[in-house]
Amino acid sequence: MDTEAVAKELRETHRKVFGQDATGAFSAPGRVNLIGEHTDYAGGFVMPAAIDFATVCTVSPREDDRYEVYSANFDEHAAFTRDTLPAKSRQSWSDYPFGVLHVLREEGMEIPGFSMSILGDVPLGAGLSSSASIEVATELALLSLAAKTLPGPEMALLAQRAENSYVGVNTGIMDQFIACCGKRDNALLLDCRSLESKLAPIPPNIDLIICNTMVKHAHAGGEYNTRRAEVEQATAVLSSHRPEIKLLRDATPEDLEQWGHEMPLNVLKRARHIITDSLRAQAAAAALDRGDLRELGKLMGEAHASFRDDFEASCKEADLMVELANKQPGLVGARITGGGFGGCTVNLVEDQHAEAFAGAVAQGYEQQTGIKPDVFRCHASDGAQRVG
Ligand code: GLA
Repeated sequence: MDTEAVAKELRETHRKVFGQDATGAFSAPGRVNLIGEHTDYAGGFVMPAAIDFATVCTVSPREDDRYEVYSANFDEHAAFTRDTLPAKSRQSWSDYPFGVLHVLREEGMEIPGFSMSILGDVPLGAGLSSSASIEVATELALLSLAAKTLPGPEMALLAQRAENSYVGVNTGIMDQFIACCGKRDNALLLDCRSLESKLAPIPPNIDLIICNTMVKHAHAGGEYNTRRAEVEQATAVLSSHRPEIKLLRDATPEDLEQWGHEMPLNVLKRARHIITDSLRAQAAAAALDRGDLRELGKLMGEAHASFRDDFEASCKEADLMVELANKQPGLVGARITGGGFGGCTVNLVEDQHAEAFAGAVAQGYEQQTGIKPDVFRCHASDGAQRVG
């Protein structure tokens, strides 16, 4: 997205809709995760990159105590006053801005009445983290009204709290963190317990290609929370033997060999995915550091198989998309990305092969499924910022 151009357009919309000039415009990106899936809430490692799809949000303070939000994507309004702001989700797109507002108010921030307009191009329900991008863009806007700035990791934690306690999806920290702290041309290796992160530069001759299966996922109340509960069940079994295991991040493959038989098979498999994928994320960052793309690709392939067979959170369309990718020249690695149960695959591809790759995978997918996929050539991008 050209955020400058979109912000300009949205400022005009804002003026038309609210009869006021916006006092600020802010953007926050979606993300793609290269490796380390569902490991974030287990305190493990992930390696996401922010992408050049984003949500832009404009804001202006009001004289009254109304909180008015307009979605240019849905052409819909939502409004509350200081006293009528609901304390939890109403299953609406406006849960995201209002959830963030609710959390900032819980933090004791004085947010005056405001008018806000939102416009984004992160595909919805595609596993590219449209939710975190809207949370973080609106958070920046609300912070500007309260004349506050916060470090990226703190902003991420507050946005995650909005998602967990207000929207009601028990996500980890990955999406909000990368939406706040992404760096152009880089993925980040993030330790989801300490929130320490390290740049993982994507080689300039490698393209980031995202293939959307067009199979939508919906996390709210669904399989995502079930997986998280299974992971917690596994943690409880292991920590009954080794109390220092607070999160699966602390467990080793050997722990699982020793005590895995005490778990139902599905729980054992979920744990095996988490423990090995967190290790793979670290190994992948090391491989990128050494420029060992062959190893990186191998790890991505193993990660996909683990997500499919042990975590059982892929879908046949994503498996097909990865199979098609694996046959193409120039592929470094391919796997499903994000929360799972649909959504997108991420593909690292040598740039001279990128165009042919995109065409061949799209064509093969359409032939076999009858579904025309969206294929995006993306760039690793910066995190949230004020625009203009
Ligand atoms: C969703 C969640 C993240 C993470 C991923 C899976 O995107 O928001 O916290 O758990 O799924 O890796």
